[in-house]
Amino acid sequence: MSAITVEHLTHVYSQGTPFEKTAVDDVSLTIEEGEFVGVIGHTGSGKSTLIQHFNGLLKPTSGRILVGDRDMWADPKKIREFRFMVGLVFQYPEYQLFEETVAKDIAFGPTNMGLSAEEVQQRVQQAARFVGLNPNKLEKSPFELSGGQKRRVAIAGVMAMNPKVLILDEPTAGLDPRGRDKVLNEIKQYHKTQGNTVLLVSHSMEDVAKYADRVLVMNKGKVAMFDTTEKVFARSEELSAMGLAVPQVSRICRGLAARGLNIDPNCYTIEQAKQQLLALRSGKGADLNA
Ligand SMILES: Nc1ncnc2c1ncn2[C@@H]1O[C@H](COP(=O)(O)OP(=O)(O)O)[C@@H](O)[C@H]1O
Ligand SMILES: [Mg+2]
Repeated sequence: MSAITVEHLTHVYSQGTPFEKTAVDDVSLTIEEGEFVGVIGHTGSGKSTLIQHFNGLLKPTSGRILVGDRDMWADPKKIREFRFMVGLVFQYPEYQLFEETVAKDIAFGPTNMGLSAEEVQQRVQQAARFVGLNPNKLEKSPFELSGGQKRRVAIAGVMAMNPKVLILDEPTAGLDPRGRDKVLNEIKQYHKTQGNTVLLVSHSMEDVAKYADRVLVMNKGKVAMFDTTEKVFARSEELSAMGLAVPQVSRICRGLAARGLNIDPNCYTIEQAKQQLLALRSGKGADLNA
């Protein structure tokens, strides 16, 4: 079954005022259960507006959102249920930490779901493990932690609700390269272990290329592309025209192929490029699809 279905979604901010802005414009798409979807697009293309509809934080101006086969806004009184089914990690989520201890912060979501104290404790421990947080940090104040650790606590707080769909809006913004890799690997690990659907909004093509099965490209409030990672990055000229650079390694593969080397011009991760170059060195040449 599909995890999320979007039917003709339009979202207009400040409708009827001079500031009126159509941020999402007649978008229809389907996200399948268990997929890892990367969402990319220029700043202002509507990524954050779109995903905030998926847990009912924003209400469509027109159109429908279905979670599984349930229309989210069929009964507005029930919208809270969807907040637990679809977990959203905002940009800079560490600003929303507020409890005295890390454990209490992570426990906030599952407690609100009405789980037993015992179950909440289990969820907290498990989520802390997902984000590689040492158990001795659990009784500390979140404000004693480093920036990267605070970010992980905030992510753990959403993972602890074990949402069917986990959405992260620019989860690595502002982290150094090592912190970035750690957080992304933890998300990948979570996806693999739990089998839940994951949506990763990112402006980093490299990150999306490495982790996503499918990539959704937003442009000016519309879906410009939604296809497998390989197919999306093969359309590098269209991406460039939208102000999106393909991964650096894609440009290298293209350049080498253009110079006559037997390399697939559509490689998009460093690992793929490495395999191709090694094959070339051993004299075999390589085809990604072989
Ligand atoms: N709360 C808001 N009020 C009015 N306009 C907004 C608001 N949030 C976003 N916008 C506008 O909607 C458009 C899409 O923004 P956003 O969804 O944040 O894009 P992205 O996440 O891709 O950067 C932008 O033009 C932005 O300025
Ligand atoms: Mg955004």
